[in-house]
Amino acid sequence: MSDKVILAYSGGLDTSVAIKWLKEKYNLDVITLTIDVGNERDFSAIREKALKAGALKALVADAKELFVNHFIFPALQADAIYEELYPLATALSRPLMAKLLVDAALEAGASVVAHGCTGKGNDQVRFEVSISALSPGLKIIAPAREWGMTREQTINYAQRYGIPVPITVASPYSIDENLWGRSIECGVLEDPWVESPEEVFTWTRSPSQAPDIPDYVEIGFDKGIPVAIDGQELDGVSLIQRLNELAGRHGVGRVDHLENRLVGIKSREIYEAPAALVLLQAHRALEAMTLAKDQLRFKQRVAQEYADLIYNGLWFTSLHQDLTAYVKSSQRSVTGAVRLKLFKGSSNVVGRKSPNSLYSYGLATYDKGDEFDQSASPGFIHIWGLPVRTQAQVQGISTLEIKK
Ligand code: ARG
Repeated sequence: MSDKVILAYSGGLDTSVAIKWLKEKYNLDVITLTIDVGNERDFSAIREKALKAGALKALVADAKELFVNHFIFPALQADAIYEELYPLATALSRPLMAKLLVDAALEAGASVVAHGCTGKGNDQVRFEVSISALSPGLKIIAPAREWGMTREQTINYAQRYGIPVPITVASPYSIDENLWGRSIECGVLEDPWVESPEEVFTWTRSPSQAPDIPDYVEIGFDKGIPVAIDGQELDGVSLIQRLNELAGRHGVGRVDHLENRLVGIKSREIYEAPAALVLLQAHRALEAMTLAKDQLRFKQRVAQEYADLIYNGLWFTSLHQDLTAYVKSSQRSVTGAVRLKLFKGSSNVVGRKSPNSLYSYGLATYDKGDEFDQSASPGFIHIWGLPVRTQAQVQGISTLEIKK
């Protein structure tokens, strides 16, 4: 009896060919696992395809809720965004997929897992670091990294074994998508000077085609978790889907990123992430109202660490556990609502409110009712400026001298 392998299966060309290849090269019986993280595919067609390509069994797991509650929302609470541009959709999905692959392997008594990544990207690292942390004994095979076939050879291989070649193979782009966003690479995008053509976008309208009337949207948060849109409570999956649709219609959510990959290369990536960008923006706006200045400053540093850690495949680490504890604690007062205006490709915060607001009208106002004690300011300034005056008198201010 041959051993079994659990293959992370997208239904695309590479993973379809991998089913046959794993049997031929390693004599493994292949069980495919297709994971639904909100990529809106026809999962029964994907199952059929796996079986047709020779899989022993084809599993499909609906992981949308797990993805939102254990990956997306914690990352939102952390304000995680990589290099200030990428909301980490793909990066966040990989540790979840690794976990489900490992679980499926245990369940089926398989000693091998396989994934369709090439040897140039971040995803191979995320998968393998995560899998080996969860189950060090499992063997990992990455067929597309190993087989050394060009695109054309892969297509020939598929045709030789009667594996249907999807029409999407004709597309020059490499695409990955889930609830938190969509990434597009390759083709003309590999020239960083070339503006991305309109055809790469499917979730967002061109801002020039967006409605001439703005939409206002109010997002309600409970301890840093979005729970309602325009006063209506929604589960996380529906809330994100609704915002992807709404913001996408206004052309909001496009990102053009020249990105630093973990494997050392720079790559040009286009993202569409309407819900993610709007939620990150709204969440930060509510934090600005409910967290003290020093909490905000420190949290920005944590956010960057947290984003790097996700990007770099370090989800299953103690550092992650520790940062998560900090982030969770930081969210205890982040409850309230944020109002945004979506219009012609832009999203702007136009209002915020919270029962825990640190904004005080009495302290801020220049009108009647001012509670700020202006007579205390000269003393404060005198002390605040003391080290500045002392140093200027003793050492001068040569760095700031304006030369004639
Ligand atoms: N550059 C992004 C990341 O590293 C997106 C990768 C998309 N992955 C893919 N296999 N197409 O997270």
